[in-house]
Amino acid sequence: MPSTSPSAPPPGPPPEAVAPLMRGIAVLRGLTDAGGSLSLSAVERATGLARATVDRVAATLARMGYVRLDGRDATLAPRLMELGNAYLAAIRLPDLLGAHADALADALDESVSLAVGDGDGIRFVHQATRRRAMSLSFRIGDLLPVERTGPGPLFAAEWTAAEWARWRERRAADPEDRGFPAVPPRHREVDFEERVARAREQGWALDDQLIEPGLVAVTVPVRAPDGGVACALSAVSHTSRHSASSLRDATLPRLRAAVDGMERALREAPPPRPGPHPDALAAWTGGSKQELGRGFIESLARGLTVLTAFGEGRDALTLSAVAEATGLARATARRALITLEHLGYVTAYERTFRLTPRVLGLGYPPLSRTTLPAIAAPHLAALATRVHDSASLAVLDGDDIRYTARVATSRVMSVNITVGTRFPAYATSMGRVMLAGLPGGERRERLARAELTALTPYTVTDPAELAAVLDGVAARGYALVDEELEEGLRSIAVPVRDRAGTVVAAANVAMHSVRRSAEECVAQVLPELRAAADRIEADLAVVGRFTRVPLE
Ligand code: PHB
Repeated sequence: MPSTSPSAPPPGPPPEAVAPLMRGIAVLRGLTDAGGSLSLSAVERATGLARATVDRVAATLARMGYVRLDGRDATLAPRLMELGNAYLAAIRLPDLLGAHADALADALDESVSLAVGDGDGIRFVHQATRRRAMSLSFRIGDLLPVERTGPGPLFAAEWTAAEWARWRERRAADPEDRGFPAVPPRHREVDFEERVARAREQGWALDDQLIEPGLVAVTVPVRAPDGGVACALSAVSHTSRHSASSLRDATLPRLRAAVDGMERALREAPPPRPGPHPDALAAWTGGSKQELGRGFIESLARGLTVLTAFGEGRDALTLSAVAEATGLARATARRALITLEHLGYVTAYERTFRLTPRVLGLGYPPLSRTTLPAIAAPHLAALATRVHDSASLAVLDGDDIRYTARVATSRVMSVNITVGTRFPAYATSMGRVMLAGLPGGERRERLARAELTALTPYTVTDPAELAAVLDGVAARGYALVDEELEEGLRSIAVPVRDRAGTVVAAANVAMHSVRRSAEECVAQVLPELRAAADRIEADLAVVGRFTRVPLE
């Protein structure tokens, strides 16, 4: 990397840079730093872009599934996480070390995290959070200034003179850490160079309330087989339980044992298994351009698409490989890579390109906290609008279903259903798809102990009959329940599966039984319902690639 003297102005974009790609990234960063959502006028202010430009950028990002537009507001959408997923899959650290970190958090009953160096910051790539409400907890993709963290001194111990110069420059230019929206204002000064020297000597580092009063951490380096620091492993606690030094005494031996296991996992890692290429992207952007015309900025879509060429087994790509993976012309891919390199999202070394941790700054922190009901809400709303009936999401809770999301268009029930409402699983369509999705043994066990009471004259109460009904539900992939929960009510439900194929929830549409016959319900509503569930599953697969998505 070229070194810049402390007083030199930041270099402007190279002549080949793609301006619309730079603008699109500015919008995504503005939305990320704002916590995921802004009005379009606030986007205008945050980015300095003209309103007409903001509108076109937002329309393009919406078409890509990266933002959602609701009236005047733009909100980051789950699909955007595919960019950060490309980076995390390429570096493999969460896949190879995440389970080790989770086991350590269980053993210590403290939060544990993995962070990588990102310029003069650190970025989290994995979080096993046990944090009690006392202090703020960081998200995957959050950027912290090196000097206020445990991991920072371990990365800085390997810095070149140029990297130190850049750090000093940033400290002088941004004394209050405004460039780090994830951290509270600086409340004390500690000699960083001295901390780095000590970390180099001791092989560990402490964060004694450098982020905020009360928050303490102890950190050790995890080395890659080539000897460089691959990432930093931290145990994090609060002064109500530990001082910085008592945390070190309590956890350092176990941190070191975990590092041994992690370094072995890196040495003995199985060869990466590259997934399928993102398909026909160039054709998709071309088609969108034809459809949306001036409202679609093709060069922005193509530029972002370049990031998705990377992934497991595709961590270092040549220009030709990027062009091939995306279906873009070489010249187009080249200009996108030059732009992304200029912005710090890609590094180039000996003709190969790699993603940098900064890619996580495109939406990952706010989106990594998304829950299943939040993922489902817009899809349920669209479904309810299409079928003109209420759409809901529920989870199985003991022998009941419990509503976790609901979009009501009319009241078809005598009781008012809200999030949290429970019904017996056996008499509801959502309950039946979830019971049908259970492993055989568990399904039989539940049926054996369930008390099947008749809620209407039509409720199936015979265990053998219910078992046969569930077999049919499992075979057909949906459940239709007619007036078994309440007279006059018909509902149809499908399962919602996670990326491993496990049924984690159910989605349904409920209606007055006079509105449609059962046959019409299957012919008209089921395809729409299944399509909505497919969209929920697709989003859940992207969000759940590297995070555990809360089901409620
Ligand atoms: C965290 O994982 O939240 C964490 C790690 C190291 C720090 C501070 C916070 O120094």
